[in-house]
Amino acid sequence: MLFKQQAWLRQKLLVLGSLAVGSLLYLVARVGSLDRLQPICPVEGRFGARGQADFPLRALQFKRGLLHEFRKGNASQEQVRLHELVQQLPKAIIIGVRKGGTRALLEMLNLHPAVVKASQEIHFFDNDENYAKGIEWYRKKMPLSYPQQITIEKSPAYFITEEVPERIYKMNSSIKLLIIVREPTTRAISDYTQVLEGKERKNKTYYKFEKLAIDPNTCEVNTKYKAVRTSIYTKHLERWLKYFPIEQFHVVDGDRLITEPLPELQLVEKFLNLPPRISQYNLYFNATRGFYCLRFNIIFNKCLAGSKGRIHPEVDPSVITKLRKFFHPFNQKFYQITGRTLNWP
Ligand code: A3P
Repeated sequence: MLFKQQAWLRQKLLVLGSLAVGSLLYLVARVGSLDRLQPICPVEGRFGARGQADFPLRALQFKRGLLHEFRKGNASQEQVRLHELVQQLPKAIIIGVRKGGTRALLEMLNLHPAVVKASQEIHFFDNDENYAKGIEWYRKKMPLSYPQQITIEKSPAYFITEEVPERIYKMNSSIKLLIIVREPTTRAISDYTQVLEGKERKNKTYYKFEKLAIDPNTCEVNTKYKAVRTSIYTKHLERWLKYFPIEQFHVVDGDRLITEPLPELQLVEKFLNLPPRISQYNLYFNATRGFYCLRFNIIFNKCLAGSKGRIHPEVDPSVITKLRKFFHPFNQKFYQITGRTLNWP
């Protein structure tokens, strides 16, 4: 009799124990990460936009899963209305630079519960045909979000396209602008590698980098080559400064984002007036990929696509030296204007 009672009790305890463990696991998965289970710091005055300060981030974190489901399944009008979902114009834009790490930056910022990314590059401001469709067209391209969140989009062509600063200014003169840069010669080679891969995919031959970057007649750096021109960051930034004060820009060190992403992301959180929520838990180094990958919670993690982090072709060291010498004065000016010294060679 006693033995039977003990067995019954043990069975009951086992069921209760499993229920408790199951609930805990569910809770951790929904909340996202262990650090997010910690009490929320006071955020008064941290958010710039209306209503964000009094909206608990934890609630946003809980609602993220739902939001994701809505986006995947094209939420009905009724669901959009019921959950008070909106499509908001971006409060911040990653304007460039191509091959600087724009995708990694966007995806990493999207780890923050108050940030919602526009997954696709929209090319609204740099493409005349899209721009002619009007601002409502642009807004409709934005993802569903809660009013307390901020939307961020990235289109790296914005940085180098003449008409873009004025067009963005007309939409929102106080928008925050993010520029992610890499050491200019490495960026130019990365740019070349992307084009080369495209040519190879189409079974086309392509010039060597050296041939494009150096003018064969003068043996000087070929400033007509787009990959070189894009890396003269200061030239492009000067055009932007005709419309926006430097305080509205934040420079992200793309080389550091590769090796040590967290401090770079924390600087961006500060610039965007977001309470710090991205932690080391959200970023783990994947040795196979050779890059940091993203961890949203104990269930969901992801690395960037294989097209990010290509192996660069070997480039003649004398060409690298020549390019670095060429970029040097422009880099100095860039550090001076932005107040961010990056110590590029
Ligand atoms: P490479 O392919 O030259 O290595 P963009 O998204 O602007 O096109 O930038 C692509 C670059 O992002 C890649 O250039 C890669 O080095 C960099 N990058 C930064 N962080 C990364 C990450 N976590 N995973 C993959 N690529 C990353």
